[in-house]
Amino acid sequence: MLTRHIGDYHFLADAETGMTFRWGKTFDDNPSFAPVPELADISISNRCSKGCSFCYKDSTPEGHAMTYDEYCQVLDSLYSPDNGTVFQVAIGGGEPLEHPDFFRIVDETAKRGIVLNFTTNGGLLTPDVFAKIKGKIGAMAISASSIEEMELAKPVLKGSDGIKVNIHYILSSDSISEAVGLVKGEYNDILNGINAVVFLTYKPAGRGKESQVLKNEDDIDAFMKAIVISKCSCKIGFDACFVPMLMQRQAVRKEMVDTCEGGFFSVYIDEYMNVSPCSFSGGKDAYSLKDYDFYDIWLHKLQDYRDRVKNGCKRMCAVHDLCRGACPYYPQITSCYQR
Ligand SMILES: C[S@@+](CC[C@H](N)C(=O)[O-])C[C@H]1O[C@@H](n2cnc3c(N)ncnc32)[C@H](O)[C@@H]1O
Repeated sequence: MLTRHIGDYHFLADAETGMTFRWGKTFDDNPSFAPVPELADISISNRCSKGCSFCYKDSTPEGHAMTYDEYCQVLDSLYSPDNGTVFQVAIGGGEPLEHPDFFRIVDETAKRGIVLNFTTNGGLLTPDVFAKIKGKIGAMAISASSIEEMELAKPVLKGSDGIKVNIHYILSSDSISEAVGLVKGEYNDILNGINAVVFLTYKPAGRGKESQVLKNEDDIDAFMKAIVISKCSCKIGFDACFVPMLMQRQAVRKEMVDTCEGGFFSVYIDEYMNVSPCSFSGGKDAYSLKDYDFYDIWLHKLQDYRDRVKNGCKRMCAVHDLCRGACPYYPQITSCYQR
């Protein structure tokens, strides 16, 4: 169990379950941000051969990759002699399994006591890959943008027993109708062995198209109604970008959800070692680890971002004070902002 108490910031995290707890001056307070990020989202490369039509990173087989030594430098930079390091990293890209040193990266991260999670397109998963990562990672996620893609992921899970496998399901104008069926339990037969389906809001970045962004006229209401009485055989979860919609439509208890963590409790580091609030910042609010110390960036440079994105939402809804408002980079993905 990791425990961290820095001033009015308190954090508890259990590596076994992945469960984390955070509180401020009292259990009723939320701290304003974490002096040491709880999670670092690290893009180890922008190399991927799959060519997904929706890829927000516009990854290609020729994409730039961080070297193994640079990855170690990134982990070194996250370590604060006074306060320790991140609880977990989320490794993405590009395709992590196409990185020539992926397994060394897994071993190095585990050696440092940091929980590693990664997302993959699933194309390179084999029993041998599972054998190499078993016992060394927190969880892995396979990306899917339709039920058909989830079905394709099922056979590649052979040998994954003992590894927590999630599905990252991208919710777009095209995929939300099937997602309603998924939450109603219509596809439980393909969810055997899956820990959770995590719904991601579609971002119009890279190869992602504006026309695919979820709109109010899509099945959002039906989706929200379905999640309240989910019949899905595994757990369901949401990315942070979904939180304003969940809170505003009261699909979950507002006290139980956290607003966007990017730049406040989590940080993104790209394959060139640029640090920014989240992977969707598209080069904005980015500072290079080649020029600055990580904690100079986190504690000082990104304070400007934190000050700027305090909730400026003009809609006075029931959750106004708990919500952080629309995404600062892609406000159009926040459906209450669209209204
Ligand atoms: C860019 S992928 C890279 C990792 C890996 N190659 C994969 O396919 O999961 C990282 C995450 O972004 C998600 N993603 C990709 N394009 C997206 C988009 N336009 N909007 C939202 N999420 C997206 C993927 O589903 C995955 O969970």
